[in-house]
Amino acid sequence: MQDTERRLAKKLFIKTYGCQMNAYDTDRMADVLAPLGYETVPEPDGADMVILNTCHIREKAAEKVFSDLGRIRQLKDAKAADGENMIVAVAGCVAQAEGKEILHRAPTVDMVFGPQSYHRLPDMLDRLAKGAKNILDTDFPVEDKFDALPKLPRKSSPTAFLTVQEGCDKFCTFCVVPYTRGAEYSRGPESILAEAQKLVAEGTREITLLGQNVNAFHGSDESGIAWNLARLIRTLDGIEGLDRIRYVTSHPRDVDDDLIAAHRSAKKLMPYLHLPVQSGSDRVLKAMNRQHTGEDYRKLVARFRKARPDIALSSDFIVGFPGESDQDFEDTMDLIRDVTYAQAYSFKYSPRPGTPGADMKDQVPEPIKSARLTQLQALINEQAAHFHGSMVGQEMDILFEKSGRNEGQLVGRSPYLQPVFVDAPAELVGQMGRVLINETSTNSLGGKLLNVAGVL
Ligand code: 5AD
Ligand code: SF4
Repeated sequence: MQDTERRLAKKLFIKTYGCQMNAYDTDRMADVLAPLGYETVPEPDGADMVILNTCHIREKAAEKVFSDLGRIRQLKDAKAADGENMIVAVAGCVAQAEGKEILHRAPTVDMVFGPQSYHRLPDMLDRLAKGAKNILDTDFPVEDKFDALPKLPRKSSPTAFLTVQEGCDKFCTFCVVPYTRGAEYSRGPESILAEAQKLVAEGTREITLLGQNVNAFHGSDESGIAWNLARLIRTLDGIEGLDRIRYVTSHPRDVDDDLIAAHRSAKKLMPYLHLPVQSGSDRVLKAMNRQHTGEDYRKLVARFRKARPDIALSSDFIVGFPGESDQDFEDTMDLIRDVTYAQAYSFKYSPRPGTPGADMKDQVPEPIKSARLTQLQALINEQAAHFHGSMVGQEMDILFEKSGRNEGQLVGRSPYLQPVFVDAPAELVGQMGRVLINETSTNSLGGKLLNVAGVL
């Protein structure tokens, strides 16, 4: 970019809350706004436009948005004192769920739009420039957002997310996603594969397929044939230059035989699976409308392990769902002991307005939730430390992503997403190296570079 253009560029700050789907959406919003002269900046101070890309999954995440808006208002006022404007937008799932309330509670907000509307940002900005106020766009439009997005070259990165599916029809009784992200929708395979090819051509070596319920993927191709996730993975497996494939997040009920078989046959599919179970108690699972039992889940895990013996698991857990007894909680602890995880996310149940769980009786008192969470996390941490420690002495492929903490050091990721620090030349960023793991610390590994395909 020329200096004069840089001076004219408008500063865009986007804050991302929540899941990887939001991180992907944030990048696409930046793509949509780039042709209008917006360049992203790392801080909101002095920005011409601030977008909060929000998350509604738990109460804390949603409340954080309102406290951040207080700070943004001060920055907007400071800009106004200099005679300049700052456009403030709230996007994402809080926008979708509480759009009107945001405009009411935070007059500093100029526009509010949901996850299905960000391709219409230029139009919203145009309306704002023409004097419109308090723009609210939380429709689920009929046009395909993905087709409407600009096909810009992105900043190349060794790893990338690719959204293949959005929304969810599962209606777990604790979850807002079916309401904020809407009905399950899968993109067409051709457009996904074109995006993957483009990413690989730009230097991406690892693609993570994203979806709220990614293994419900059933995108139809141009001849009207529906593909499942396994077929998409097998096709990506054949793309030259792509080294790694991951997918997240899956529902146990939507795992089919083909997906398990893909873990055996697709060489680039990483042996690491995030498969949320939420609870180990059949009673609680039923109340959660999860549509599976603890035993179903254990059997599924055994099948994945048979197909891919080195597979490691990660999960999500909720403690303190309404009606959860001490015994129910113990059933969850038993499931964790039986399955053994490499890592897991765990949360206290947070009643979300509009979901069936919020109206259930027998809400669990906060101190009990906290005590159970502490106990569950201690067990998970123990298992994670054991898994992490078991890496020492193993040789594995590491995808180098960037410079490490020390001079002459790079950091990459193991097949299990652990950060690995290795002494290696800077030109290996974006390449895969064979590494002997010889050190562990709490959250990372250290290793020695053995060789790099085609380089050493
Ligand atoms: N309370 C607590 N945790 C929740 N999650 C979803 N909704 C809630 C809620 N109301 C957790 C689930 C889900 C993850 C993304 O967030 O574990 O898998
Ligand atoms: Fe929410 Fe996942 Fe259940 Fe869908 S499957 S309702 S996204 S927890």
